[in-house]
Amino acid sequence: MLFRQLFDQETSTFTYLLIDATTRDAVIIDPVYGKMQRDLDALKEMNAELKYIIETHVHADHITGAYDLKKATHAKFAAGIATGLTCGDALLDEGEVIHFGNEVLHAIPTPGHTDGCTSYLWRDRLFTGDTLLINACGRTDFQQGSAETLYNSIQKLLSYPDEYLIYPAHDYNNLRVSSIGQEKQVNPYIVETSKEEFIDKMDNLQLPKPKKIDASLPANLRCGDRMTA
Ligand SMILES: [Fe+2]
Repeated sequence: MLFRQLFDQETSTFTYLLIDATTRDAVIIDPVYGKMQRDLDALKEMNAELKYIIETHVHADHITGAYDLKKATHAKFAAGIATGLTCGDALLDEGEVIHFGNEVLHAIPTPGHTDGCTSYLWRDRLFTGDTLLINACGRTDFQQGSAETLYNSIQKLLSYPDEYLIYPAHDYNNLRVSSIGQEKQVNPYIVETSKEEFIDKMDNLQLPKPKKIDASLPANLRCGDRMTA
């Protein structure tokens, strides 16, 4: 297996490249608009061919790079079924998988931050989007957010083995990877937190509106088509 974690400094977004080492078929998770050359260079360097562009959810903080990347590579677009996107090639429900070469990526619906939030399992790695972040979790105060639903989704993720690695959609504290066991031990949204306490905490975060939400949401609901040209 070949694997690369990429980072967009401006929006603190992680993009992941997963590649079958034998066939060189690849998928990319959560590409960022403006970073296509970086992604294409990484694919070229690893002699890989992009088969799928996969989103963990309809992002509010950045425009997805999916649209440009799809045009450049002819890869298919996939996201969770509950995103309701009509522009995708594959909308994934519980238990559905994406095959790339001999590798398999499993879709795990984890709503709460948004309705369509979907985590993905590849081997021993969970790509958790904004459902479970390192020492944190996604906010629930816009985009169909529900603290109760998010709590249940986090519990669902915590049912995976402790040694499974967590690769989130963002990190703002220079952290890169965690594990189920580590989050159970140190995540302040998990440790000794009942469902009621979690909901209360989430409902009182009083976070500012994401800077790019007004441009990001409409474009991301079109799978990244900015319609500005
Ligand atoms: Fe998000």
